[in-house]
Amino acid sequence: MWAIILHGGAKTIRPGEELANRQGCLAALKCGAEVLRAGGSSIDAVEAAVLALENDPTFNAGYGSALNSDDEVETCAAVMEGGEWNVGAIAAAKGIRNPVRAARAMLFEEPILIAAGGARKFAEENGVELCSQNALAASGEEAESEERSHDTVGCIALDGAGQLATAVSTGGLEGSPAGRIGDSPQPGCGFYCDNEVGGVVFSGDGEEIARAMLAARVIHALDGTSPDGAVQAAIRVVEKIGGEAGAIALTPDGRFGWEHNSSHFAVAYEHSSMPHPLVHLCKQEEDEGHG
Ligand code: GLY
Repeated sequence: MWAIILHGGAKTIRPGEELANRQGCLAALKCGAEVLRAGGSSIDAVEAAVLALENDPTFNAGYGSALNSDDEVETCAAVMEGGEWNVGAIAAAKGIRNPVRAARAMLFEEPILIAAGGARKFAEENGVELCSQNALAASGEEAESEERSHDTVGCIALDGAGQLATAVSTGGLEGSPAGRIGDSPQPGCGFYCDNEVGGVVFSGDGEEIARAMLAARVIHALDGTSPDGAVQAAIRVVEKIGGEAGAIALTPDGRFGWEHNSSHFAVAYEHSSMPHPLVHLCKQEEDEGHG
């Protein structure tokens, strides 16, 4: 048995962008599902899926990143595995072609979080491809859309050996102060993963997600609640303090959960027992049986 769920960010999907979001999520899901179907690890699956999302400028991670107040791209990314809770994370990193690759390279290393220039140096020393400082910046209409600012992507996978893994990647917030670090690279805030309990990944307002420790709340709630119930409770908490977010969750027995209080939250998922993958642009679509 294997399962995979991913999201393309808590945001507003403007008219005309629906197809790109659906197709981008499905294409990334396929990359991760192929790894799992072939007997590969959940770590490889989440890396492959998030890599595809980073390479698609529809999403604000990797290509399609935002410019900060200094007109620079700074990215954050993290990978976690649920067996021994190893984490690899980079923050406010510049000039790394695929941030998720650098986070994956750091998964079994210490320190678990490297920021700024240190992240680029680590990437270079570990054979991760670099790029020019702003090569990942969104262009044209993508860059002008304010709604793009909450567009972190993420994925959770469960492999045939029962191992869970999560990955998250963000291209930052438009106009945010240089050096800002949100929830995405912080375990217990933007993501978490435990083989015994489940995995969770958030997207949205990093300050509110981090100070409410939303991923930790979901992991604790998963002990006695359904994955949908656990993420719904977390979204209610972030809403109470004025934040906007979306979350996905996956349990060790392959149950999915997701919720959002943003207008849209494109989510795709597949389980080894499903006839085909499903994709939705908001929770209402799933509730109404579309997708
Ligand atoms: N959720 C991404 C960030 O706030 O940086």
